[in-house]
Amino acid sequence: MRCIVTGAAGFIGSHLTNRLLAEGEHVIGVDCFTDYYGADFKRANIVSAMGHPHFSLSNTDLAVDNLEQLVEGVDVIFHLAAQPGVRSSWGYLFNDYMRNNLLATQRLLEALKGKSVKVIVASTSSVYGNAPPPMREDGPLAPVSPYGVTKLAMEHLLSVYRTNEGLNYTALRLFTVFGPRQRPDMAFHRFCRALILGEEITIYGDGSQTRDFTYIDDLVDAMLAAVGTPTGLVCNIGGGNRLSVNEIVATLAAYSGRNPVVRYSERSKGDADHTAADLHLARYHLGYQPKVQATDGLKTEFDWCRRWYTQQ
Ligand code: UGA
Repeated sequence: MRCIVTGAAGFIGSHLTNRLLAEGEHVIGVDCFTDYYGADFKRANIVSAMGHPHFSLSNTDLAVDNLEQLVEGVDVIFHLAAQPGVRSSWGYLFNDYMRNNLLATQRLLEALKGKSVKVIVASTSSVYGNAPPPMREDGPLAPVSPYGVTKLAMEHLLSVYRTNEGLNYTALRLFTVFGPRQRPDMAFHRFCRALILGEEITIYGDGSQTRDFTYIDDLVDAMLAAVGTPTGLVCNIGGGNRLSVNEIVATLAAYSGRNPVVRYSERSKGDADHTAADLHLARYHLGYQPKVQATDGLKTEFDWCRRWYTQQ
């Protein structure tokens, strides 16, 4: 396959890129290195792919640049480029969410008109908001953050381009993905960093909120399986690992051998109380079965963070 991975230097994009290259595919990585978090992380994420003969990196900004040539002759696009992060989607930063989640996607879909390309798109559990778990794809959609609103609107855009332009897409609703290279704004990464450097951990709310979190390798399996799925499929990808924030801190603290210094602060606006993925559709369409246990995955992420923060 000749593939494009948008957001190739990001957490998920870089793992997917490495896997596609390992399986003999040709990959054009697209990334415009937005400043949401440090470019040092993104450069390190992509370094191994950069030396691969089947990989090229394009600095294209999907919201601005001409995309016609980029998508020429491509079989599959994994569209992961986005403005992520639930907590920072309020206020003036919402502009970035509109631009990078909606406008960028709309311009990509315009460039694909009349082309026979399969598009796998990263959506999010945040489209469900506080819907009662387990969250089903055909259940209520009521985002509680501006971020979730832009991702739900993006799903609607995909559907509109399918109906009007014959777009062949599958959208995966990802549940809090973790593992090595996790974004530095995300909870597990922040907790690991604090424990390694002996800093204070901030827990938003009382820490009883739970997440169904998904190990990166399980997600990459699901993304590859999604290539063969019917158009219009919207499907949850969770890990079956549901733990509270307090339990996660306790687990990571045990790995670190340190007593965590925890400060409980105000609950974060837009934060869902609990998430849990119903995986029936994923099992049926993708043969999806998450393999990585929470404790194993957390240890792998902790060890990666330790290397990152002690070797800088
Ligand atoms: C994550 C990603 O950031 C989103 O991009 C993704 O779309 C979303 O998962 C999703 O699955 O919908 P979130 O669940 O907020 O969003 O992920 P974390 O940053 O790992 O936060 C998990 C929980 O830990 C939240 O309740 C958050 O409030 C809490 N947290 C986070 C803290 O208590 N302290 C922190 O320092 C950071």
